[in-house]
Amino acid sequence: MKSAVVLLAGLFAFTAYYVYLPLPSTVSEPWRLMLLDASFRAAQQSCNLAHYLGLGHHLRILNFIIGTFDKLNLQYVEQEQVKITDTQFDGVEVRVYEPAKAEENLRRGVVYIHGGGWALSSTRGSFYNNLCSVMAKSLDAVVVSIEYRLVPDFHFPVQFNDVLHAARHFMQPEILAQYSVDPGRVAISGDSAGGNLAAAVCQEMSQDQNETGRFKLQALVYPVLQAFDFNTPSYQQNEFTPVLPRFVMVKFWIDYFNGNREFAHSLVVNNHTSLDVGQASSFRDRVDWTSLITPRLRKTYRPVTPTTGRVEILQAIPSLLNVRAAPLLAEKQVLRLQPKTYILTCEIDVLRDDGIMYAKRLEDAGVEITLDHIEDCFHGCMIFTIWPTHFSAGIRTRDRYIKWLHENL
Ligand SMILES: *[C@@H]1O[C@H](CO)[C@@H](O)[C@H](O)[C@H]1NC(C)=O
Ligand SMILES: *[C@@H]1O[C@H](CO)[C@@H](O)[C@H](O)[C@H]1NC(C)=O
Repeated sequence: MKSAVVLLAGLFAFTAYYVYLPLPSTVSEPWRLMLLDASFRAAQQSCNLAHYLGLGHHLRILNFIIGTFDKLNLQYVEQEQVKITDTQFDGVEVRVYEPAKAEENLRRGVVYIHGGGWALSSTRGSFYNNLCSVMAKSLDAVVVSIEYRLVPDFHFPVQFNDVLHAARHFMQPEILAQYSVDPGRVAISGDSAGGNLAAAVCQEMSQDQNETGRFKLQALVYPVLQAFDFNTPSYQQNEFTPVLPRFVMVKFWIDYFNGNREFAHSLVVNNHTSLDVGQASSFRDRVDWTSLITPRLRKTYRPVTPTTGRVEILQAIPSLLNVRAAPLLAEKQVLRLQPKTYILTCEIDVLRDDGIMYAKRLEDAGVEITLDHIEDCFHGCMIFTIWPTHFSAGIRTRDRYIKWLHENL
């Protein structure tokens, strides 16, 4: 009996220790976030163990767990109001959401790219299925959600090319006509790694010779935009914050390029872009947050710019500085071509400054920009709107994003 009590107390203490995280006082619903983070961490750690035991690649197992969890999720939207079709655009799988109610006029369109570190999630899971259905319904728009292929089976530039091919296919006049979409009212959008792909593909298509097939808007939700500097103020401030600690983000980047994970510790201290790494120098001012970010957000953080680092990292993974992977690194002439842009950032997010720097560089290039900064939200919040991972802050974020699209598209 006594030992059982001790055991229980021990278990309780361990669980509390595992779940408890010091969070900024501004975060909304902190306990719910701690539980979400602890579950995600436990899943990641189990997957790492399974990977170590040779049972499969940890990312594939993690995606399987997320998919299974998704199936348990009973709360689907009122899908009778939206017609959902799985099809292919130029060989790339897509899921198309069309409002069910008849409409005489042409509709708006949104090309949507889901997040998940280029490795996780799916258009078909409840999170994104729900988001895209809500978007189709509330915007009365045709939403094309792209099922691009994932890490670890595929790596950069496969994800970029999948999104590019599907987006170009949809933007052809005859395809838009088939879906009754107004060619002048189509946006490209995505969250997190999907925001990365949206920004990169938007840049690519803005340079197409064809005047037709251009997006009216881009809307990027806490996008990941650069792998140059892992010591921006937001990376420093949120080094250990859920659901995306710095080290996890660095590993997503390395896996995107199928690079050596041994480099992760060096990337964290910016050894890949130290002053002695020649290729890095021409990009340095494009991520110079001492001028791109306001003092209020810079706080007292200092740049981490080592004099000497490890030249071999960029030799092994040159794509770290490829603009198709890191759209923040694009030159000003390309930024000038971008459509009106919405960028949503969260204070409690390592990627906050990726978004803020991109907003500033686009603004300096003459692009009309809305930077929507949310003080009490964490990375990924927008998809956490359904039970049991529902956050009122998530719903608030999603509504602000949809409201902007509604007013501007
Ligand atoms: C330009 O548009 C035309 C007509 O829609 C299309 O046939 C052609 O493939 C497009 N070219 C490029 C480079 O996208
Ligand atoms: C970073 O580079 C310096 C200089 O080469 C080296 O001394 C240090 O060990 C490196 N740190 C990491 C974590 O790679």
